[in-house]
Amino acid sequence: MVNIPKGTKDVLPSDSYKWHAVYKVIDKLAKRYNLKEIMTPTFEHTELFVRGVGDSSDIVNKEMYTFLDKGERSITLKPEGTAGVARSFIENGLFNNAMPLKTFYKTPCFRYEKPQAGRLREHHQFGVEMFGSDNPESDIEIFMLLNDFFNEFGISPTFSINYLGCKECNAVYKDKLRGYVKPYLKNMCPDCNNRYEKNVLRVLDCKSRECQSMLVDAPKLSDNLCTTCAEKFGKIQETMQDLGLRYRIDTNLVRGLDYYTGVVFEILNIDKTSGQTALGGGGRYNNLVEDLGGKSTPVVGFGLGIERFILYLESIGYVFPEENNVDVYVASATNNMSYILNLAKSMRNAGLGVETDLMARGLKAQFKYADKLNCRFVVIVGDDEINAGELTIKDMKVGTQERIKEGRLVQYILERL
Ligand code: HAM
Repeated sequence: MVNIPKGTKDVLPSDSYKWHAVYKVIDKLAKRYNLKEIMTPTFEHTELFVRGVGDSSDIVNKEMYTFLDKGERSITLKPEGTAGVARSFIENGLFNNAMPLKTFYKTPCFRYEKPQAGRLREHHQFGVEMFGSDNPESDIEIFMLLNDFFNEFGISPTFSINYLGCKECNAVYKDKLRGYVKPYLKNMCPDCNNRYEKNVLRVLDCKSRECQSMLVDAPKLSDNLCTTCAEKFGKIQETMQDLGLRYRIDTNLVRGLDYYTGVVFEILNIDKTSGQTALGGGGRYNNLVEDLGGKSTPVVGFGLGIERFILYLESIGYVFPEENNVDVYVASATNNMSYILNLAKSMRNAGLGVETDLMARGLKAQFKYADKLNCRFVVIVGDDEINAGELTIKDMKVGTQERIKEGRLVQYILERL
């Protein structure tokens, strides 16, 4: 047999209810925050991600699923959602809408990573991209939204936050950091040597212990912001405190994608076995739309990994609401197939979940199956009942059995559910 590709996962029928629980909360928040869903293709021209996500990122350097299509175009399966949404914003003139334009998406993402618990080659993200506002209110709205999302599952998240600064103060800081890092370079990992050339900020989140030990005394982003950026970061923190949004400043947090410009953040899960992983992360990126050929537009957003979030919920013993789709099983003791199917149809039309016998089982085996389905009612139909215009109905919860007029069936069930 052909097995599933490494780093991918099936969501089995017995598990999909967990995804539905998460997606329901997303839809609920979309209503509360006036988010409009955007769906962009699963693949894009490779250049979009090289320009958008950035060629100093691990994503672009090592992890993209890139191939030539039959027309010899370089195509990439989207490794993240932001670049495609920004492209769509420009290409479809979405900037003509009243601002802010608040979009959300649920999308598969593909990254050629070393698979492990919570790290897949195909994962799914819930993402939000909010276009048009450069005010701290919009940064805060993103934090509030994510906070509400976690609260819906009984969790109070802590945001790790940092501030990258505008083009000007960022450039000054990068020079300082380069000056600090240079003498250590020969002892730093090859990745950091590459980062030094392409985007020195990214040495700050190198996972190597040796590199980190050399960075202990490196200048801090937060100490090098210009007055405007420092004020904005201060305002964000002050408002987070006022609103009871929990945060801690992580001076080394720069995120693994090159497009960020202002506030950046992650929500971390610290797990005994798999260590520290980010459940979600994001930030402000005010240059991306312009870099991709659009009109300068401030944007802030985040992405949250659905698989990681579900794993996390399981690890804390969260009980997902069960979905019981079957209200009624129609047990057939007749050859009158049309009668059975019509009866099922009338109940389904009334919104009930109905199963009938599709396996030509005997009555006893049908009851056993109905039991497995855990359905509330079993309706028994034999020729005798059909001729009399009546049905036998068993309430599996209460344990009663009655014979009722066929026309009363739906009402009878609805009254008792
Ligand atoms: P990211 O931090 O690369 O950001 O990914 C967002 C989230 O996706 C991560 O926090 C993690 O939960 C999940 N994730 C990433 N890679 C994997 C993987 N290999 N397996 C399982 N889950 C994974 C972005 O992608 C940005 N586009 C977020 C953003 C939107 N920033 C602004 N707007």
